[in-house]
Amino acid sequence: MNWPRLPRWLPWLMLLLWLAYVAWVLIWARAQRSAPLPPPSTLSQSELRKRGEYLVKLGNCAACHTARGGAPWAGGRAFETPFGTVYSGNLTPHPEHGLGRWTADDFWRAMHEGKSRDGHFLNPVFPYQNFAAIARDDSDAMFAWLQQLPAQAAPRRAHALRWPFNTQFSLALWRALYVEPQAALQEAPQDGMARGAYLARGLGHCSACHAPRDRLGGFNPASLGGGKMPVSGWYAPPLLLQERWEEADLRLWLASGQAARHAAYGPMAEVIFSSMQYWKVEDIALLAAWLKAQPGQTLPPHLQLPKLGQLQPEEAQIAQRGKQLYQKHCAECHGEQGQGVPGVYPALNRDSSVQYALPENALRLILHGGFAPATGGNPRPYGMPPFAMHLSEQEVADVLSWLRVEWGGAAKADPAAAQNKVFISAPGVAQMRSLPAE
Ligand code: HEC
Ligand code: HEC
Ligand code: HEC
Repeated sequence: MNWPRLPRWLPWLMLLLWLAYVAWVLIWARAQRSAPLPPPSTLSQSELRKRGEYLVKLGNCAACHTARGGAPWAGGRAFETPFGTVYSGNLTPHPEHGLGRWTADDFWRAMHEGKSRDGHFLNPVFPYQNFAAIARDDSDAMFAWLQQLPAQAAPRRAHALRWPFNTQFSLALWRALYVEPQAALQEAPQDGMARGAYLARGLGHCSACHAPRDRLGGFNPASLGGGKMPVSGWYAPPLLLQERWEEADLRLWLASGQAARHAAYGPMAEVIFSSMQYWKVEDIALLAAWLKAQPGQTLPPHLQLPKLGQLQPEEAQIAQRGKQLYQKHCAECHGEQGQGVPGVYPALNRDSSVQYALPENALRLILHGGFAPATGGNPRPYGMPPFAMHLSEQEVADVLSWLRVEWGGAAKADPAAAQNKVFISAPGVAQMRSLPAE
C-alpha cells in the first residue's frame, strides 16, 4: 500500500505549533502565580468599617471609582491608555453590578493579585502592583466599609481596548513580564519608617505615576525614579531629590499643595485635593520622613537641561524677545528675578519645572493655566492664568525658551552641543496645545 507523501514543511509546522503551545502554557502559568491566602482579619466588623473609611482616603479610591457626574463609588470613570480606554468598576455592594456577592477573600485577591471575583485578570490601570503591598487587615477594613455603602445599579462599562490588548492573553503576558507575587502582610505597620514606606509603596501608590514606564506600560513599583505619564504626557519628577526639600516644607506641601517655593499642579494637585489633604498629620509626617530618607540623586541626565554654549545671534534674539514677554506678562507674579512670592506664587528660578529637559509641564501651565488644589491648609489658592488666548505659539515658545536659558540650570559655559534642546519651537507648542488641559 502506498501512503501519500507528506509535504516536507509539515514537521516544521508541527514543531512551531508545539513551541507556541509550550510558550502559551508557560506564560499562563507564570501569570497565575500567587502568594498563599492569609487568614482574614480578627478585628470586629465595626472596628474594620471605622478603619476602612480612612484607608480608602489614603488610597484615593473614590477619585478613580467615580465617573464625572456619576454616583459616588459606582465606577465608570474613563482612563485613556496608549492601548485604548479602560473603565473603573462599581465598588458599591450591588449584587449584580458591584461587589454585592464578593467575599473579603475575593476582595483581597483583587487588591493583592489584580484578579476579579471570577478570576479574570484586571487591567493594570488599577494600581494593584502597589496595592499588593497592603496588609490583609487593611484590605478587609476597606471591604467592610465599601459593603455598607448604598448599592448603585450602574452596570460595568466594557473597556474599549484595541486588539490584541483587549485579550486576557495580553494581560497574562504583561503579568508574566512585570508582576512578581508579593508575600502577604497580615497587619499594617503603624509607626516609623516602615509605615512611611508602607504608605508610599502601597496605599499611596506614588510609583504608579513617579516610576518610569516602558513602552508597554511596565514599571517597577519600588522605583521613584520619575517618569512621563502615558497619554496625558505630564511628567512626574523623581522623588529622590530630597535635598531640594526641607522636611517641614515637604510636609506642608503634601498636606496642602502649597509650600514656600512650589505649588502643586496637574495630576498631583488632584492627588492632594482628593486624598492627601485628608491624611492624618502623623501619616504625612511619616511619609515625608521616609521620602527624605531615600537616597538623593540629581535629575537623570536625559532630564537635565544641557549646558549652553555661547548663544548664536539668532538665539540671543529669541531670548531677548522672551525676556520682554516675561517682564510684560509674568514678572508681576513670578518676580523680576523669578524668585516668586513665598507661599503665593511659585519661584521659577530654582527647583521648578523650568529646569526639566521635558518642557511639557511648564508649557501646559503657560498655555492652560493652573490652580493649586483648594485644601484645608490652603483654602483659596492663587491661580496661574492661561495664556493660550493671549500669546501666539511663537510667543509662548519664546518666553519658555528664555526661562530655560535664564533659569534652566547650568552655567552657560559648555560647548553648544545640545542647544536645540533648550529652545522650544512654535510647532512644538502647537503640538502641546492639542493635549487636554488636565
Ligand atoms: C488610578 C485609578 C484607580 C485607583 C487609585 C483605584 N482603582 Fe480600583 N480600579 C481601577 C480600574 C480602572 C479598575 C478596572 C480594572 C479592570 O476592570 O480591568 C479597577 C478595579 C478595581 C476592583 C475590581 C472590580 C471588579 O469588578 O473586578 C476593585 C475591587 C478595586 N478596583 C478596588 C479599589 C480600591 C479599594 C482602591 C483604593 C485603595 C482602588 N480600587 C483604587 C482604577 C483605580
Ligand atoms: C496621578 C499621578 C501621581 C500620583 C499618584 C502621585 N504623584 Fe506626585 N506628582 C505627580 C506630578 C505630575 C507631579 C508634577 C507636578 C507638581 O510638581 O505639582 C508630581 C510632583 C510631586 C512632588 C514634587 C516633586 C518636586 O521635586 O518638585 C512630590 C514631592 C510628590 N509628587 C510626591 C508624591 C507622593 C509622596 C505620592 C504618593 C503618596 C505622589 N506624589 C503620588 C503625579 C503624581
Ligand atoms: C497672576 C499671577 C501669575 C501670572 C501673571 C503668571 N503666573 Fe505662572 N504661576 C502662577 C501660579 C499661582 C502658579 C502655580 C499654579 C499651580 O499650582 O497650578 C504658577 C505656575 C507657573 C509655572 C510652574 C512652576 C513650577 O513650580 O514648576 C510656570 C513654569 C509658570 N507659572 C510660568 C509662567 C509664565 C511663563 C508666565 C507669563 C507668560 C506666568 N507664569 C504668569 C501665577 C502666575
